[in-house]
This record gives sequence, C-alpha cells and structure tokens, in this order.
Amino acid sequence: MPTTDAPAWDFVGHYVGRDSVVPDFGALGKYEFVAEALLPITRGIVEAARIQAGETVLDVGARNNAALLAAQAGARVTAIEISPRLLDVARAALKDYPDTRFELADVARLPFPDASFDVVIDAISLMFGADREAAIAEMARVVKPTGRIVWTGWFGGDAISEAAKIQISDTAAVVGHAPFPYSYWGNEAEMRALFAAQGFQVQVTKHPDVTTGPAPREFLAGLDQVHPVSRACSLALEKAGVLEQTMERMASVLEKANEDPDGGTKLSRFYVSGVATR
Ligand SMILES: C[S@@+](CC[C@H](N)C(=O)[O-])C[C@H]1O[C@@H](n2cnc3c(N)ncnc32)[C@H](O)[C@@H]1O
Repeated sequence: MPTTDAPAWDFVGHYVGRDSVVPDFGALGKYEFVAEALLPITRGIVEAARIQAGETVLDVGARNNAALLAAQAGARVTAIEISPRLLDVARAALKDYPDTRFELADVARLPFPDASFDVVIDAISLMFGADREAAIAEMARVVKPTGRIVWTGWFGGDAISEAAKIQISDTAAVVGHAPFPYSYWGNEAEMRALFAAQGFQVQVTKHPDVTTGPAPREFLAGLDQVHPVSRACSLALEKAGVLEQTMERMASVLEKANEDPDGGTKLSRFYVSGVATR
C-alpha cells in the first residue's frame, strides 16, 4: 500500500490523510445511509469488545455508530475521524455524552500518549485503505498493556465482494493503480502476522451477514449514490466512458447469486471480527 508519496485516491481528487491514504467518506456519497445499514455489524463488533462501564475506549474512524454504542455502554470515549464532515456527524450523534473527546486525526498518527486506552475499536473503518502496518503499530502503542484492539474486515468470496472486486479492478485499469485489495483486513493469516509483529495474539471470528434490498440493479444504483468507495470508482469509470459496462458486469454477478425469489435482493456474505491482546 502507498504511504506518504503516492496517494492511491488522487484519481478523483477526494482523498484525505498523509500516511493512510483513504477516500474521503465525508465528501463523496452519503455515508450516513450505509452506516445505518451496517449497524447490526457495528453492534456485533462493539459486543466483541466487551466494554465495561468506566473503561477508556478509542474509536478509530468514528463517524458515529461504534463510538455511540461504546458511550451507551458506559465507556469514556475518544473518537477520531480523518474526514472533517464525519467528525461533525459524530459530534452531533454524541451530543448527550459531553465527556466524549473528538479529534481530527489519521489512525497512522494518533495524537495520544502511549498506553492511553483500555480498548481500541475499528468498526468497519480501516478496511478501505489505511496502511495496515502503520495503523496497527499506532493502535498497539496507545492501547494499555492489558488492553484489547478490536477490528473488522470483509471475509470475501461472496457475490458482493466479487462485484466490488470488478469495480475495483476496472477502476485500477483506468487509473493505473488499485485503490485497495478487497479483503484487506479480513484475511486471518495476514492479520495474525501483522498483530504478532506488535506482540499481540488474535482471536478471529467469522460472522454471517445478509444484505437485502430492491432488485440487484436498483440496489447497485442506490449503493452507488451513497457509498463513498463506489462513488469514487464510478467517477473514474464514468470519466473513462466504461461505467455502464462495469455496472452491467457487477449486476450480473449479483443476479446470479441472488437468494431472493420475489424480485428483491438477498445476498449472504461473511465478515470477520478480531480481538487482539498481548
Ligand atoms: C466505513 S466508515 C465506518 C464508520 C463507523 N466506524 C461507524 O461505525 O459508523 C469508515 C470511517 O473510517 C474513517 N477512516 C478511514 N480511514 C481512516 C484513517 N486512516 N484514520 C481515521 N479515520 C479513518 C472514514 O473517514 C469513515 O468515516
């Protein structure tokens, strides 16, 4: 993955960060809608963190859901976001928790002293391009020796990930480089090795998830309006005049795998959550 000198997302001009180059989730699409749809997964990740009242929790890539759930569980929450607009969304969502601390920061450069937190949570946040080595090193630095880091990734191999792979590889073909590998934080062996390098052991759990919606083509078109990653890819594909062909191939992958007999979309996939401890 690129670090400082080669921003992977410069093809749409919407990227943020210095070490971890990520699409700006606040500037493209309307991530709030996607976050709502993913709320059950976020709940599962926060549950995996087994937060106790009074614990200090750092939510990386906060937007709002995981930070809010942690605050509701009685944690003292610090929320970081790399996207200024989404930091404001998080602030608004946590207005009833005035002790929450908010920082505009990249996970690769956390503005906190060593051993500051009992728990660090990455709820579907870092899988879109954060530099894994840098992110894990920083999360490991700021978590207490007895603390835990909880992260997430898509497992891959299902129709939604196959469609996303088409979108990503077609985008790579028109812009000259791939934005990020799809199962970036979901490959157990890779994650084990990356955390082991920081002195952590990991416990990985594979969870089923079912995505439902209108018919596959409508579902894709709707997702493309709100999901920042899809938006970023579509802007590049449209500019190159190949958007329709890519969308067509993506739709046919979803249609083939569709489990909804009544014309809507029902697709099963898996995500992975991991808990890292020393
Ligand atoms: C898919 S959203 C998940 C939002 C949130 N965790 C939730 O539960 O709703 C990913 C979020 O992570 C943020 N993000 C991605 N990479 C980041 C990084 N390197 N440092 C800080 N935030 C990052 C994005 O701006 C975005 O808000």
